[in-house]
Amino acid sequence: MQEVEQTTTLNPQIKEAAIKHVKNKFIQAGDSDLIRVLKKESFKHIYKKMIVDPDDFMERPRPADIEPWGGQKPGGPRDFLKSKVVLPSLPQVLLEIQKVIKNPDSSADDLAAVINKDPKLVAAILRLANSAMFSFSSEVETTSRAVALLGFRQASSLALGTVSLSLFKRTAGTSILQIEKLWKHSIACGVIAQEIATSAGHNDVERFFVAGMLHDIGLYVVFEGDRSLAMELYEYASRDGHSFYDAEMEFLGFDHATLGGVIIKDWSFPQSLVAAIDGHHNPARDQNGPDAAIVHVADFVAQALGYDLGISSVIGRIDDEALEKIGLSTDRYAAILPNVQKLIDEIFEILNQT
Ligand SMILES: [Fe+2]
Repeated sequence: MQEVEQTTTLNPQIKEAAIKHVKNKFIQAGDSDLIRVLKKESFKHIYKKMIVDPDDFMERPRPADIEPWGGQKPGGPRDFLKSKVVLPSLPQVLLEIQKVIKNPDSSADDLAAVINKDPKLVAAILRLANSAMFSFSSEVETTSRAVALLGFRQASSLALGTVSLSLFKRTAGTSILQIEKLWKHSIACGVIAQEIATSAGHNDVERFFVAGMLHDIGLYVVFEGDRSLAMELYEYASRDGHSFYDAEMEFLGFDHATLGGVIIKDWSFPQSLVAAIDGHHNPARDQNGPDAAIVHVADFVAQALGYDLGISSVIGRIDDEALEKIGLSTDRYAAILPNVQKLIDEIFEILNQT
């Protein structure tokens, strides 16, 4: 943070407020080279945001139509899901896209055929292909042409992202959890998870993108399912250096990650995706692959870069064992940061119009 302070002329009041904000945000995070790098990035973002969007730092008033929470703890994630049915049915198209990606014999035409089944997906793919992100010489009018031009990987990631985000709808529950923030956070976590996995030399990196996109599905269900409880959690997490995870453990006895794991398992998604979502706040729960560890770190980095959910002033902790399991140096993380921010904003802009 010192470098930023020394090399730029900053407004002293805003600088002071931003430093205080960063300090509080990282209060549980400890100290390491990586944390120092992330704090610096976080400061830059918060300082800028305090200038362009100061309202985002004001405490939001409690929506008038939310009843006080009755204090009735659910017996566990299953119990919670049984009493609050808020999710749409299994997104079959997501599984179909994953199947095409996994099959080494799949062609661009196979992917285009799956995408063509869903008009929203077709629109997203064509919008991306015709966006400023690419400068193709002529207008791209068909899915198969778009897949050919974008490349199989880029097109499949975008298709998976579109389907995942379509699960998070704008509804009454989102008066506390702002849907735009959830979308941005999910895209950020997906993009960063995929970058970390690529940098760490893993194959099949699209699965990390999907895991990042869907990692907070349990959180969405909490907010949709019980607004009074969600408000209670939100208010607790807004006070005294508590993270949202702390609030959940205090009031629920389980967290949204466990809840999300149950949902994804019920949908018969691959085990690696269940493990990533279930373990994204406790990565040691994933004994097998690096999935939970990578999503955990990506979630933290996303929040540090300003793609947070706005439901807590504290990020939480970063798990040392997860960092060890991933095995990247701080320099490798630092190298990822500049590229991901542009990519996240571009993907958001495109998907937001769909
Ligand atoms: Fe989470």
